[in-house]
Amino acid sequence: MSGEKSKILIFGGCGYLGKFMVKASVSLGHPTFVYTRPLNPHPPNAPTSKFLLLKDFESMGVTIFYGELDEHEKLVSVLKQVDVVISTLAVPQHLDQFKIIKAIKDAGTIKRFVPSEFGNEVDRSRNALPPFEALLGNKRKIRRAVEEAGISFTYVAGNSFAAYFVDIILHPHQNPSEVVVYGSGEAKGKLC
Ligand SMILES: NC(=O)c1ccc[n+]([C@@H]2O[C@H](COP(=O)([O-])OP(=O)(O)OC[C@H]3O[C@@H](n4cnc5c(N)ncnc54)[C@H](OP(=O)(O)O)[C@@H]3O)[C@@H](O)[C@H]2O)c1
Repeated sequence: MSGEKSKILIFGGCGYLGKFMVKASVSLGHPTFVYTRPLNPHPPNAPTSKFLLLKDFESMGVTIFYGELDEHEKLVSVLKQVDVVISTLAVPQHLDQFKIIKAIKDAGTIKRFVPSEFGNEVDRSRNALPPFEALLGNKRKIRRAVEEAGISFTYVAGNSFAAYFVDIILHPHQNPSEVVVYGSGEAKGKLC
């Protein structure tokens, strides 16, 4: 139906990037769904940050599905209720997306899948050091599986999020007295 907004399901919606995806989806008027692992029990006066975030999502109209990635039948039934799937699963969970791909294939109704990437363009990145190459390699494996399954896809290469790496590389909370900026400091970016 023309003008009807796609229903969007997000995996990893409680994570660093996922929170932005969920809020962007809602703000663009899409019926938005989050598939998340069940909450651990907590005392009522000490709700976890994930519990509070999910309450926040619900107040925005987001539908939450609780489940594990290896609950195949549940995944298929959830997927049949939506049109588009976005994964922002964490790096160690990248290969778990094979389970999502299998469920998408079995559901047979998903119009587009956006796997968890949002970094370097992995098919053009070469000569990375081994730990980073392992990450790129897993993202490539997921791409090939998506293509082999005949699923429509969008791959998002966002390169590096500066704000994310400020904490990791510069440790601003430790009040460093000196920061080394390589080169003249004039370059707006570096592509390699
Ligand atoms: N370009 C950049 O600078 C940059 C920076 C950061 C991230 N990224 C990319 O963005 C994507 C998302 O990264 P992120 O940092 O946002 O991820 P994250 O916050 O570490 O985790 C995202 C979600 O993954 C799920 N998850 C974590 N452990 C799990 C487990 N054991 N089993 C099942 N699910 C689990 C959790 O979802 P639930 O709790 O809801 O189940 C979590 O909220 C990755 O592909 C990463 O490479 C890019």
